[in-house]
Amino acid sequence: MTDFRDEAAQLVRSLRAYVEWQAETGAHGIPRVGKQGGRLGQGLGLGQPAGATAVRQEPEPSPTPPAHVEAPKTPTAPIVQLDRHVRLPQMAQEVAGCTKCGLSATRNKTVFSRGNPEAALMFIGEAPGADEDEQGLPFVGKAGQLLDRMIAAMGLDPERDVYICNIVKCRPPENRRPLPEEMSSCFPFVNEQIDLVAPKVIVAMGNTAVAAMLDTKLGITRLRGQWKLYRGRIPLMPTYHPSYLLRPSPQQLEAKRQAWDDLQAVMKELGLSLPKKA
Ligand code: URA
Repeated sequence: MTDFRDEAAQLVRSLRAYVEWQAETGAHGIPRVGKQGGRLGQGLGLGQPAGATAVRQEPEPSPTPPAHVEAPKTPTAPIVQLDRHVRLPQMAQEVAGCTKCGLSATRNKTVFSRGNPEAALMFIGEAPGADEDEQGLPFVGKAGQLLDRMIAAMGLDPERDVYICNIVKCRPPENRRPLPEEMSSCFPFVNEQIDLVAPKVIVAMGNTAVAAMLDTKLGITRLRGQWKLYRGRIPLMPTYHPSYLLRPSPQQLEAKRQAWDDLQAVMKELGLSLPKKA
């Protein structure tokens, strides 16, 4: 009974997030409304069973990378699966005591991760901001709230179905971009997090994450929406950072639509069913 209630609540949450996110992107003819608009979700068949809840479908077995993913240049050796439940908390402790770069002098809390280390989907951002530095958790401020809505619109639960972390684990002062030496000091942690969580798909959000993960100088506008391979083996989708999507600009609506396209591609790759259009 409780399980059924939990599932029903999750379905309603997903559906609401999906409708709100669709309204934000202006997709499928749903009118965009402001905070006061109060029309989100009305008359959109919320009572119908066809919802946004993701259903895991068995993907076709694919011995080779999907056609849309670049062939690996240098195949890496298979990794030994360490016990993530032992090593991740241990690493979080190491990060908490880390003084490898200057950010340790100005941080309040280190910010390691949130979500489920068993998840098939991993989101990677840039670095903690003020809220994250205060709470010690990634993506808990305004950008994080948008990210949670995007994840829920995929029919996923941000705590149960995904793992979220940043390239850099300490807040850069004044929210400046992390320096190359700060990124390279922290990168071994990200790398090990990826090995331990072993996600099926990574979403890299924004220029910093994409530059660090793919070792590229190409900007996110050029790279978003194109499948890449991380270390020759994990499909990686570059997309916009939620902070960028929050910034008012003439491109904002189109960027949100593109970000949603990217997330739908991720769902397809994971064998999740796409939410039914209203
Ligand atoms: N922006 C990021 O890149 N990471 C956070 O954790 C918060 C905002």
